[in-house]
Order: sequence, then structure tokens, then C-alpha cells
Amino acid sequence: MIYSRILGTGSYLPERILTNAELEARVQTTDEWIRERTGIRQRHIAAEGETTCDISFHAAQRALEAAGVQGNEIDLVILGTTSPDIVFPSTACLLQHRIGANGCPAFDVNAACSGFMYALGIADKFIRSGSAKKALVVGAETISRVVDWNDRTTCVLFGDGAGAVVLGASEEAGILGTHMHADGGHRELLYTPVGISAGFTDGPNHGLAIHMSGNEVFKVAVKTLDAVVEETLTTHGIDKSQIDWLIPHQANLRIITATAKRLDMPMDRVIVTVDRHGNTSAASVPLALDEAVRSGRVKRGDMVLMEAFGGGFTWASALMRY
Ligand code: ACO
Repeated sequence: MIYSRILGTGSYLPERILTNAELEARVQTTDEWIRERTGIRQRHIAAEGETTCDISFHAAQRALEAAGVQGNEIDLVILGTTSPDIVFPSTACLLQHRIGANGCPAFDVNAACSGFMYALGIADKFIRSGSAKKALVVGAETISRVVDWNDRTTCVLFGDGAGAVVLGASEEAGILGTHMHADGGHRELLYTPVGISAGFTDGPNHGLAIHMSGNEVFKVAVKTLDAVVEETLTTHGIDKSQIDWLIPHQANLRIITATAKRLDMPMDRVIVTVDRHGNTSAASVPLALDEAVRSGRVKRGDMVLMEAFGGGFTWASALMRY
């Protein structure tokens, strides 16, 4: 049996840090409100001209280095993002060329905040089927470009960043399983109102902005994440006590805490970056994973559960022996 296994992780955060205090000066909000409701203290913002491919490249280089793999050994590139550099070529194609993996399949996945988890699930299936041997899987966003910086209900939440993993074929597990879902019936709760085909408006940023009914999304997110965690444990016959680490999507500390509680996991077994990164959408899980690995918390052989929920709605999980 062939499994896919993470050979190396990497991540990158833009240099510029935007604090809650700076947002207080911009919209009617307070550091206290943001910290209490979300757990966020600061987020990183890409520099002018710095693109999703640029930050992906830094994360990919670090993941390749950690894996001891050269760019030209990669035979699949999948990149989860909702903020691609341009409409086409895909950001995955731009990145593929930058790392020198020309010739292999390369494509973007748009599953909003679940983008990396979807990309990981797809790459895992490529490797298990024998169609790829070494895959670069990235979650990256310059989501700050889609944010309405005058809307206090959303602008305090998001940040930019990139995370990457190199997956390799292995006889040893590895990723034990991935679970992906979507329900397109809740578009009005979390969406951008404009786009290439629907058209743009004359307003600020051509009408491009995140519209979110935060409270409603919150309730669905908690319930849905509970369900996907349950599905994952049941499918693989794993008891929650066997999970060493929970690496959740970093949207809101209260959502993370609710999932941890459901798993009876103390917070010191949960990787939290939302306080420093904000919600980096598709980048949040691989950023947290890389931090967990590099800080020495997640070690080889540990049982790790990753999950994400985002616009679509989309949601996904992955269970692995790191
Ligand atoms: N500062 C101060 N007050 C604010 C702010 C702010 N930044 N934002 C909203 N408020 C006010 C509201 O106007 C409201 O005031 P009112 O009671 O007078 O009407 C009050 O605070 C409470 O607002 P709620 O929206 O009910 O606050 P809530 O506790 O739900 O927190 C939040 C809002 C943080 C957005 C939360 O709902 C959340 O995290 N939701 C989930 C987000 C998520 O998971 N998104 C999915 C991923 S995103 C993606 O896929 C792109």
C-alpha cells in the first residue's frame, strides 16, 4: 500500500505587521473587542507589489529545503488560494516555474479557507494512485487585497501568509485519510459580490470585498467542524484520546476552543497562531503546521488532526501520522 507522507514543511509571513491598535485608528473598534471576540492581536500584510506567488515561493523553498528535495524532483504542484496573482496562468503554474518543476501538473484550488486541506486531499489521492511521487502542496493568500478596510466587521479578522508541504510516496503512513465537503447553499453568509464573470462595480476596489454574516458563519462553523471531526475519527476507528495534536483552521479562537473541547483536548495540544496571524484563509493550517514542526512540538510519529472551514461553504479534515 502506498501512502503519502509529509517530507518537509515551510511557511512565510510578510514583514509588515498590522496591530489592533492601528485598526483602532482606522475603524470604530477596540483592541479589547478584537481580542475578546476573536483572539487576534496582530496580522501580517503583504507589501505593495508582493503577490501570492511571491510569498508561496518563500514557503515552498523552505519546505523543499526541509524535505531535502530539489524543485525539479517535484511532479505535482497544487496551490489553495482565493487571492491568485492574476486570473491565468494559475498561481500554481507561476510557482511551478519559479521552483523549476516545469512539465508536471500544476493547478490552483479555490475552496476559500479550506483551500490547503482540499489541495492536500487531492495530492494524497494522486500519490496513493501512483500518479505522483513528490508533490508540493501550498496554501497561500494575499487576502488583505480582498478586504474592505473600512468594514470593521471583517477587516479586523484577516491576514496574509503562505504555508507549504512536500508530500512524498511512502510505504509508511503518512496521511491516513482526508475528508472534503461543500454546501453551496449558504452563499449569502460568506461571499464576494463581484468577479470576472459576474462583473465589477465602480465602487472602491471595484466592489471586491468580503461580505460575511459573522455570527451565522460562526454557528455553522462550530457545528460543521464537530461533524467532520466525528466523521474522521469514526472512519479511521480512532478514539479522540489517540490524537496528539489538533491543528485547526485559524479563524477565531472561540471556534478553535469549541473543537478542542469536543475532543477533550487541553489547549496545550492545540496549535494556535490566530493571535499573531489572524485568519490567513487557505494559508492558516500549513502555517500552523510548520510552526508546530519547527518549534519541535509535532514530532515524527505523532497523530495529528487538521481541519478547516470556509467560504462555499467548504470544510475538510485530514488525519495523519506525522
Ligand atoms: N469592533 C467593535 N464592534 C464590532 C466589530 C469590531 N471590529 N465588529 C462587529 N462589531 C459589533 C457588531 O456591529 C455588533 O454590534 P450590535 O450588537 O450593536 O449589532 C456586535 O459587535 C456583535 O457582533 P457579532 O457579529 O454578533 O459578534 P460575534 O461575537 O459573532 O463576533 C466574529 C464576530 C468575530 C466575526 C465571529 O462571528 C466569527 O469569528 N465568525 C466566524 C468567522 C469565520 O469562521 N469565517 C470563516 C472563514 S472566512 C473565509 O472563508 C474567507
